[in-house]
Amino acid sequence: MSNKYYVTTAIYYTNAPPHIGHAYEIIAADVIARFHRLLGEDVFFLTGTDEHGIKVEKTAAKQGKSPQAFVDEISERFQTTWRDVLNVDYSRFVRTTEPDHYQVVQAMWNMLMEKGDIYKSSYTGLYCSGCETFCLPKDLTPEGLCPNHLTAPEPVEEENYFFRLSAYKTKLIDYYEAHPDFIQPLFRRNEVINQLDTLEDISVSRAKRSVGWGIPVPQDPDQVVYVWIDALSNYLTGIGWGKDSAVFEKFWPCDVHVIGKDILRFHAIYWPAMLMAAGLPLPETLLVHGFINVAETKISKSLGNVISPQDLMARFELENADPIRYYMMTSTGFGQDGNYTDDEFKNKVNADLANNLGNLLNRTLNMVIKYCDGEVLAVGAEKNNLLSGEDLAQIQTHYEGFRFNEAAQVIMEGVDRANKYVHASEPWTLHKEGKTTELERVLYNTLEALRQLSILLMPLVPTLSQQIWEQLGYTQRITQMRWADILDSPLPAGQKIQLGSPILPRLDSEIVGAGKKR
Ligand code: MSP
Repeated sequence: MSNKYYVTTAIYYTNAPPHIGHAYEIIAADVIARFHRLLGEDVFFLTGTDEHGIKVEKTAAKQGKSPQAFVDEISERFQTTWRDVLNVDYSRFVRTTEPDHYQVVQAMWNMLMEKGDIYKSSYTGLYCSGCETFCLPKDLTPEGLCPNHLTAPEPVEEENYFFRLSAYKTKLIDYYEAHPDFIQPLFRRNEVINQLDTLEDISVSRAKRSVGWGIPVPQDPDQVVYVWIDALSNYLTGIGWGKDSAVFEKFWPCDVHVIGKDILRFHAIYWPAMLMAAGLPLPETLLVHGFINVAETKISKSLGNVISPQDLMARFELENADPIRYYMMTSTGFGQDGNYTDDEFKNKVNADLANNLGNLLNRTLNMVIKYCDGEVLAVGAEKNNLLSGEDLAQIQTHYEGFRFNEAAQVIMEGVDRANKYVHASEPWTLHKEGKTTELERVLYNTLEALRQLSILLMPLVPTLSQQIWEQLGYTQRITQMRWADILDSPLPAGQKIQLGSPILPRLDSEIVGAGKKR
């Protein structure tokens, strides 16, 4: 089995700062990346920003800024939100305004041109600048609006370059048939197959006079590359296509592109066709997620319901973003639309993390301090059955199959069992009755369960896992652990635990909604 893993997110448009819908996607990719690192694989995790286009040009002009200055600011917001707020550990952040990316896009363009798959023709159509694509009249709402943005697409008449997408219909169908796992979840695959009935060539450039902010078409200064050849090629730029062949050869093809349902068509149809034309292998998997709504309503600037990760941090006075990560990944099955409400967030986080997990840690460590002088005593320890080999196998399969909510459920059942075990074994009675060996065994088994649970939870809640790890008395980082350590590296006898403050205070019931105070 290959020991590398390449995971990407979509690259985010820089016309507005990140919100919790974007966060959902990148958290999922981060969980996948962290899980594969835990398996000992060499992971490359790419994310970035998609910075060209008419929307950026217009918004920048409205704010009296140059497009470059404008995208610099927004791209920075994405980077700091992902890295510093959400603890997303990406390998590279690619920007479509980087010189490296210009070269990749122009090289890709030249390859498609040489293959005879790009040609020039005049075009009249309806363009949605929200989707950055032409719309077919049949896809519009009865009022003639774009179904994604509920805005009227603009009529456009231009000489453009076209990509011969229609020539790839049969090859695409053959590919989907030969690779049934290419599009996940499965129901998304059928959506794509249905779209192939009306496969037309696509416009891949715009006249520079109508859109100035883009990568110039090689050998034609009047045109800019627009927009999917530019955007999709980021997945090649990120791992050094044409520049660092060792990295590229190692990581391509991509193992999983994590994308939202709205951009499935571009990834399942345009992207494979482009790669086929360029003679490059196709990605293994497109992992398609649903949309996060807020109180059952689509997140939208015009509705004023946009929530950023920073808003949530402030609203609940969080010290780290693990509650957000945990809630996002576990409250809905991957692939389905999810819904955010303050109450559901608070209830889920309090039940699973503050009460179930936090209490287990706190009461166990307090007893170790009280009864064992804060030392891990393995005297008389027996094999800990709180998490069986079967549980571990199940959790692994769920993580591998992108069923994070189910992985978390099996983990939380382990936490539950450990809590019940403590309750039923009554260490306080064992202490009172002087049954020292038995007492030490119960506490050891519980500490050992906590050690295992902290590793299992690491992809989802890396900060909390590290905190549990430190309280168990470890000095090295928990990220150095590998999956095999869950069973093979039990807590060493004699280790001193380090009781700290509770890893997660209960979220306050008074804080329900922006603006309310404790
Ligand atoms: N720039 C293009 C993607 C190019 S990929 C080669 C784009 N950008 S986007 O900023 O509009 O969206 C980026 C990702 O965020 C997409 O996968 C999109 O589905 C996702 N989401 C945007 N809003 C979302 C929610 N409300 N919920 C979940 N994901 C959402 O499309």
